[in-house]
Amino acid sequence: QTIYLSEYQVPAYLVDHVDLRFELFEEGARVHSTLSVRRNPDSRAASAPLELDGDSLRLESVALDGAELSAADYEDRGDQLVIASVPEQFELSVVTWIEPQNNTRLEGLYKSSGMFCTQCEAEGFRCITFFPDRPDVMARFRTRIEADKASYPVLLSNGNDVDRGELEGGRHFVTWEDPFPKPCYLFALVAGDLVEKRDTFRTCSGRDIDLRMYVEPRNAEKCDHAMDSLKRSMSWDEEVYGREYDLDIFMIVAVDDFNMGAMENKGLNIFNSSCVLASQDTATDAAFQRIEAIVAHEYFHNWSGNRVTCRDWFQLSLKEGFTVFRDSQFSADMGSPTVKRIEDVTLLRTAQFAEDAGPMAHPVRPASYMEISNFYTLTIYEKGAEVVRMIHNLLGPEMFRKGSDLYFERHDGQAVTTDDFVRAMEDASGRDLTQFRLWYEQAGTPVLNVSDEFDAEQGVYRLNIAQHIPDTPGQSNKKPQHIPFALGLLGSRGEPLPLKLEAGEENAPAERVLELTEASHTFEFHGIGERPVPSLLRHFSAPVRVNYPWSREQLLFLMSHDPDGFNRWDAGQRLAVDVIQSLVGAPKDAAVEPRLVTSYRHLICDSSLDQALVAKMLQLPSEAYLIELADNADAPAIHRARERVLKHLAISLRDELVACYRRNLESGDYEITPEAIARRSLRNTALAWLLVINDEEGRELAVRQFRSADNMTDRMGALRALVNSDYEEDRNLALEEFYQQFREDPQVIEQWFSVQAASDRAGQLPQIHALLEHPAFDWKNPNKVRSVVGAFAGQNLSAFHNPDGSGYDFLAEQVCRLDDSNPQIAARLVTPLTRWRKFAPEYSEQMKAALERIRDKDGLSRDVYEVVHKSLAG
Ligand code: ARG
Ligand code: ZN
Repeated sequence: QTIYLSEYQVPAYLVDHVDLRFELFEEGARVHSTLSVRRNPDSRAASAPLELDGDSLRLESVALDGAELSAADYEDRGDQLVIASVPEQFELSVVTWIEPQNNTRLEGLYKSSGMFCTQCEAEGFRCITFFPDRPDVMARFRTRIEADKASYPVLLSNGNDVDRGELEGGRHFVTWEDPFPKPCYLFALVAGDLVEKRDTFRTCSGRDIDLRMYVEPRNAEKCDHAMDSLKRSMSWDEEVYGREYDLDIFMIVAVDDFNMGAMENKGLNIFNSSCVLASQDTATDAAFQRIEAIVAHEYFHNWSGNRVTCRDWFQLSLKEGFTVFRDSQFSADMGSPTVKRIEDVTLLRTAQFAEDAGPMAHPVRPASYMEISNFYTLTIYEKGAEVVRMIHNLLGPEMFRKGSDLYFERHDGQAVTTDDFVRAMEDASGRDLTQFRLWYEQAGTPVLNVSDEFDAEQGVYRLNIAQHIPDTPGQSNKKPQHIPFALGLLGSRGEPLPLKLEAGEENAPAERVLELTEASHTFEFHGIGERPVPSLLRHFSAPVRVNYPWSREQLLFLMSHDPDGFNRWDAGQRLAVDVIQSLVGAPKDAAVEPRLVTSYRHLICDSSLDQALVAKMLQLPSEAYLIELADNADAPAIHRARERVLKHLAISLRDELVACYRRNLESGDYEITPEAIARRSLRNTALAWLLVINDEEGRELAVRQFRSADNMTDRMGALRALVNSDYEEDRNLALEEFYQQFREDPQVIEQWFSVQAASDRAGQLPQIHALLEHPAFDWKNPNKVRSVVGAFAGQNLSAFHNPDGSGYDFLAEQVCRLDDSNPQIAARLVTPLTRWRKFAPEYSEQMKAALERIRDKDGLSRDVYEVVHKSLAG
């Protein structure tokens, strides 16, 4: 059954206070809940029945204002507890029994390596007790946790610990009180044998906040980076958004089994271990950066999400889009802004554009859904962040800050909509964002077709920009959107030209943000002496596709001259895409564009260039991105064409690569600065390229680096290079050594799995099956499933798209297997198959057949049902 935004109704009953008591045992947990309920004065549904959501609960008793109800007074419908008649205001006490130890869905209360923990967003609280499980019901929570003291010395929930003591039989309790009203999706509980790491943060108003991290004892040495990231996030949010932390304690817990990355529960953030634990020896640079960003993201939710929350789940991007925008600003400030922008845009263009062009396309504010878990998407998160970024660019930083201040002040303690957010921005700035709101309503990636002409006689350069938004499921004939389009024009020596929109304009800027609002516009730039090279959509000022007939000449020119670092990188990507595309299906002896080699030589050798940018520019466009750009894609052919270019570059630049490797060898201590990260990235790229051509010196360097590395980036860089080479013996030796060294560390073993599963050398199907049989593999742990099954289907594209269809069969089988135990993870794994229409018929027909096989499975979960049915429809 589908849920529609248009059918939203305010809750009939409000809950002011929740009193919870958890009795935790090995064979289950008893949950005592007392709700202070009153009729909602804003609800027109007078004398409505009280309906509480529930899922997988065993009801033990119900009492109203202290009087036990008999079975005739209520109805237990399984997914709802309904009491037909209740007073205006009352206390309802419910006791339920649940079995966290058997909860494999990892929603609600469950056990992960011996500890109890919770995940309630979006609708997990109903797996704990009966409750109006919707974000617009906000209550104050008081939570008492009782458990065996020896096994569970640490007992945590939201807010402040207000009471604790001993109980009979070796048990103990702690009581927590959260003074801030919150929706139940922000509730959290943790019980376990954890070590505590403490720090403090003094806020801008001089309050000292107790910072605590809780991890399993073996991870005690992996907390520093997250703690430092947290402190940086706290002061950044004060400085940039004027947001101070509000409780006296802020806690972070790491758990191994977790469906997503992390969760912003009030005062008690819970993280997937892989998104919070790091040490030089076990985490790569990418992991360090991801952890910093996720710690910041969850922390920033305290304001954008918790203090101001969502009215309903259609508004999910209200908190997620805004918070992703905030964490990306933060990461840009902590490192290289250009590199951060490149990373965000790469994800957006590779994966979000694909989603927007596929059967699951939906607006940033969806109009309907079946299973909300399926809507924690790249569109809600990344496109949602781009929409907020566009508002930021249209208003400018000062007005945007005024708008966010107004938003937080006006809606503090409320559950609101994306429209309320936009209205606050309008009211603070005086700008009309009526048309801009279409970004929230219309799905699909706008396409801009750009053409130009130069009138030498008049000295006028004309730019025509036409927009159109492709049809998406349920939406056609879309209206033009309001698109900020940043551009510059370069003269023949690379000099930026003044952009005069009027003939005699004085002091014209060299970069402008044009605002597109119509289906098509023509802009005239005056006083231009020669045909310029346009630098379009600078810093990716809007999440759109730009078509312009760039010549390779122009792209090479932009690669070395564009003052916008992002567009420099983008020109390089467009050139590489063009070269690779022209080789797909071409005869074996077709030449590789020589100017690509020249430009890469320049990048590798000129150490005066920004090395962080160079490290990014040397990455060829991924296979996934090339597939996204293709029609009737042939993944193995794309893979071969890309490999050809890679090998050609490596052979042509062999000596330069060795020199680059040596020049970038580490001197001194390990640091995580943008410069040091760029150095490691450059030398590992050089290594990877050398091994792609089976270079003997490269092999020696890789083996030496693998053995002597003092950090995981280099160890993994060497391992990956060996795994992707033809040196089978070295590969197997390195994999075995690595495993023996890190077998006790699940986060490292996940990387060990995925480096194999993502490799076309080490990740063919028989090898994948062997990984699934490996003692370290665990079907119950989502990270392990992602690192083998997810990496195979998502990154090892030539193996997954084996023309014999075996990759698709394999994925269908694993989805069906997981559907019973963890439907959220199963539904996510289906994603690669949902793209079936993108591929050439010999592939797409088999992909479709695999989807049909999943569709026909008995007792398919709602999660997988929605994805599979939408993919097959239309
Ligand atoms: N709100 C979390 C975050 O973005 C994500 C939690 C999603 N959980 C889920 N079961 N869908 O930080
Ligand atoms: Zn979030």
